[in-house]
Amino acid sequence: MSYEVSAKEQDAPGSITVRRMDAYEREIRDEVAALLVEGFFPKLAYFTKNRRKLALAFRDGIRADMFYVAELDGAVVGMLGCSSDTRRALVADKTLLRRSLGFLMGSVAYAALKGSFNAPLHYGDGNGYVEWVATAERARGRGVSTALFRHVMDRPEYGSLTLEVLDFNENAFRLYRKLGFVEYDRKAARGMERQMFKERILMRWDKD
Ligand SMILES: CC(C)(COP(=O)(O)OP(=O)(O)OC[C@H]1O[C@@H](n2cnc3c(N)ncnc32)[C@H](O)[C@@H]1OP(=O)(O)O)[C@@H](O)C(=O)NCCC(=O)NCCS
Repeated sequence: MSYEVSAKEQDAPGSITVRRMDAYEREIRDEVAALLVEGFFPKLAYFTKNRRKLALAFRDGIRADMFYVAELDGAVVGMLGCSSDTRRALVADKTLLRRSLGFLMGSVAYAALKGSFNAPLHYGDGNGYVEWVATAERARGRGVSTALFRHVMDRPEYGSLTLEVLDFNENAFRLYRKLGFVEYDRKAARGMERQMFKERILMRWDKD
């Protein structure tokens, strides 16, 4: 289908191609897992600072029909994971976490993540909840995430998109505003979260 390979950023310096992860014929799970770890290392490093172990802990929890991948001049440099109310894009799996992080830390990670990764969402049918957006550091600021979002926004299955951004993440907040997301709520950080940020900003984009 045309929207599998459609989005190209005409005004970006390089050529950006976006497609859903399951449209790839070759296995790109390791590349996507590495991007996930690179983008969210501050959040995941509590469990281990070993990036290879972190990538192994999450690679098989990535749902290929819910992740979109961007290539810049042929190299995989960006990813976006979009959940629905019934399925989450990235699932925390106890066995995988224990296998890669060790029994103790794997158990700690599963206990910490199962609620926020695996629990059903309540944003309504036809809504995509954008949970995971990351561009490789070397390719940031070149329109990669913009292309990923535009691709997802063009897809017929999403009538609206929601997401959360932490208050310190100014680049991401600016990007979302530019794409047409509107802030609709803020939630104060709780417990240990307060060491990292003060508020989560909830944003929404509607197709019509
Ligand atoms: C936030 C992030 C995903 C943006 O990806 P990106 O591919 O660099 O984004 P784009 O190039 O499409 O940027 C579009 C806009 O976002 C803002 N922006 C993004 N990155 C920026 C940067 N490094 N410096 C300044 N502005 C930036 C700008 O407004 C930019 O528009 P402009 O170029 O017209 O000024 C990327 O910085 C990243 O991977 N961060 C770590 C993971 C993360 O925080 N994810 C979001 C969680 S909510």
